[in-house]
Amino acid sequence: MNSRLLTIPFLVIVMATAAQAEDSAEIKELLQASGCLSCHSITEKIVGPAFKDVVAKYSSDPDAVGTLTQSIKNGSRGKWGRMAMPAHSSLSSDDLKALATWVMSQKP
Ligand code: HEC
Repeated sequence: MNSRLLTIPFLVIVMATAAQAEDSAEIKELLQASGCLSCHSITEKIVGPAFKDVVAKYSSDPDAVGTLTQSIKNGSRGKWGRMAMPAHSSLSSDDLKALATWVMSQKP
């Protein structure tokens, strides 16, 4: 058995995993710094809906990321209950899109 043939796929997997971990640390920092986590969690409703419930609601919407980007930017009311989400107009459009994309990547 040629061991070099086995080493290459192994390295690719390790590198891909490292890149993913880095991504999620960055997005966690953004969630924390933007105050999202004081109202949201991935699995539990706090003030706002659980992100898993958001994914379930929008899973068949082809423009989910666009819709959520707008909701996060401009705030949202009346879709989930009586509480409203304030606007986050100081976030850059890259950050808004990254947040919306991350929310939709959570497993329902
Ligand atoms: C003050 C509490 C609060 C903060 C801070 C907050 N949210 Fe929300 N969020 C809510 C509430 C309440 C709703 C439900 C609004 C509604 O019923 O339309 C909501 C809804 C959402 C939705 C679903 C929107 C939709 O169109 O269905 C997403 C996605 C979301 N929030 C992401 C975020 C992100 C990302 C942040 C941080 C940038 C954030 N929220 C910060 C309270 C908050």
